[in-house]
Amino acid sequence: MNILILTGAGISAESGLSTFRANGGLWDHYPVQQIATPEAFAKNPALVHRFYNERRTALKTVIPNPAHKALAALETALTAKGGQFTLVTQNVDDLHERAGQKNILHMHGELNSIRCTHCNERRVFTSKTSVDMACEICHHGVMRPDIVWFGETPFFMEEIEAALTTCDLFVSIGTSGAVYPAAGFVNMAQSLNKDTLEINLEPSEGSNYFNQTRLGKAGELVPQWCTEILQGL
Ligand code: APR
Repeated sequence: MNILILTGAGISAESGLSTFRANGGLWDHYPVQQIATPEAFAKNPALVHRFYNERRTALKTVIPNPAHKALAALETALTAKGGQFTLVTQNVDDLHERAGQKNILHMHGELNSIRCTHCNERRVFTSKTSVDMACEICHHGVMRPDIVWFGETPFFMEEIEAALTTCDLFVSIGTSGAVYPAAGFVNMAQSLNKDTLEINLEPSEGSNYFNQTRLGKAGELVPQWCTEILQGL
């Protein structure tokens, strides 16, 4: 069996991390056009650093929830039986890693990584960034959050399209379906006659495209679904 999972902020909500578009969510406090664009970073880098510093700090206070753990356990069991398991996440937190997930594609980047604006050198970074962090490799650029902003190209798109082509089942968990290209993965899966499932607190913008939708909390529904799959292995 070959499963492709897409996760969004909703899978980390029960760990205590804010989602983006709920009332009081991240985009209520920081308008996205002032934060998550290259222009915003050029105009006010200190504000952008502050936004990601706050999220990087918050990350240290939370732990993976049962949804993260169930997916990691399913990957282990499925691959042990010769299956394939790919997890694409829009999330920039490290909760999937900390739950033991192995094959993860962070299509929107990672909080615990910074990147040079000039030479693209990346390095793991888990504390606070600031506007004057020179690149230690090229000594020309400054370091920026290693996050994909609006108007930039998400990472791993070739791997994701390959996974969509080869999977048997595409499962979307905890995402509003508001942002492309991730929101369009279900359409590609449908066009390839893949089975599709959505697990979300409320119907996403793409709910109608899924063969099946299970509404509720990821922390409850994801372990249940993983158990069903494991029993069928
Ligand atoms: N269990 C399951 N789903 C949940 C839960 C939960 N406990 N809590 C919230 N959700 C759902 C919400 O109903 C919503 O549909 O998670 C979704 C979160 O949606 P968004 O806040 O829009 O987050 P996401 O879909 O990940 O955003 C996509 O937008 O701003 C960009 O780059 C950012 O990666 C992000 C992208």
